[in-house]
Amino acid sequence: MMDQAEKLRQVIEELKAKQLGSRMAMPEPPVKRSARVLTVTSGKGGVGKTNVTVNLAIALSEQGYRVVILDADFGLANIDVLFGIVPQHTLLDVVRNRKNILEILTDGPRNTRFISGGSGVEDLLKLDRQQIARFIDNMALLDKLADIIIVDTGAGLSDNVMSFIMAADEVLLVTTPEPTSITDAYALIKMVSNRDRTKRIRLVVNRAENSMEANDVLNKLVLVADRFLGLKLEPAGYIINDDAVTRAVKQQQPFMILYPRSQAARNVKEMSAKLMSTENADETQQNYGIRAFFNRLVGFMKT
Ligand SMILES: Nc1ncnc2c1ncn2[C@@H]1O[C@H](COP(=O)(O)OP(=O)(O)OP(=O)(O)O)[C@@H](O)[C@H]1O
Ligand SMILES: [Mg+2]
Repeated sequence: MMDQAEKLRQVIEELKAKQLGSRMAMPEPPVKRSARVLTVTSGKGGVGKTNVTVNLAIALSEQGYRVVILDADFGLANIDVLFGIVPQHTLLDVVRNRKNILEILTDGPRNTRFISGGSGVEDLLKLDRQQIARFIDNMALLDKLADIIIVDTGAGLSDNVMSFIMAADEVLLVTTPEPTSITDAYALIKMVSNRDRTKRIRLVVNRAENSMEANDVLNKLVLVADRFLGLKLEPAGYIINDDAVTRAVKQQQPFMILYPRSQAARNVKEMSAKLMSTENADETQQNYGIRAFFNRLVGFMKT
């Protein structure tokens, strides 16, 4: 056991040294003990979560942050499809103790890395306490490897998705301007506020016709959440409905890479800058990191 942990630490040091070399020109990200864990979710399905996850990850990586994506949509391999990459291993291999976390990290474009969930989280529940503790120790290495971990979930109000929401440091809630999507987003906000009114929820309006429509949706949801639920939603930004998105999806490439000058790409860049602005990411804001994330996740799932 000690041997393996020691080896992992060594590999991490090597990785760090390598990254330092390739990122000399980048601004040094602030030194943090834990990664910031951001869960991307929505009330209604198909509103753009996976596109937001992947393209935001690339924008953040281009800003110089170390980004890891966790694909927690266990039914369908979302991230794989949008990256056009088939990973060799999944979280299940770590849960079953066949691989360590470093062996299941798959390289994505632009220095991003991702983890395929597979049915890993469901299997987590079958482990005993000691096995869970070992799994979490292993996952905790991600706190050293990443500045930000973005968790892409399936849609809806299932227990599993709720666990991922409640376990995260913060939530990025995606909605479109369609009334059905807004209603489902509100239902989700309500469920979260019933459990924890202090949860940081950031709102993204995707597929807006223009900035006016986007801001209108943002303002309305912020207002009703405050008035009826006493929960402070934070506007994270918006993405315009843009052909570049569908064209990129068909080519299984992120639009940030294929069409970096598209309106959608510019919107995502703006969002990532805001997300990492001192106001939203300063040292006074506590990130509990990936260890706490999995501890809480297991706790929520067991109850
Ligand atoms: N800004 C946009 N402009 C145009 N089309 C978009 C935009 N965002 C998403 N789409 C379209 O919506 C589709 C679904 O997006 P995506 O897969 O990211 O949604 P999702 O919320 O992850 O879906 P699921 O709930 O199934 O996981 C995309 O394939 C694309 O065709
Ligand atoms: Mg998806």
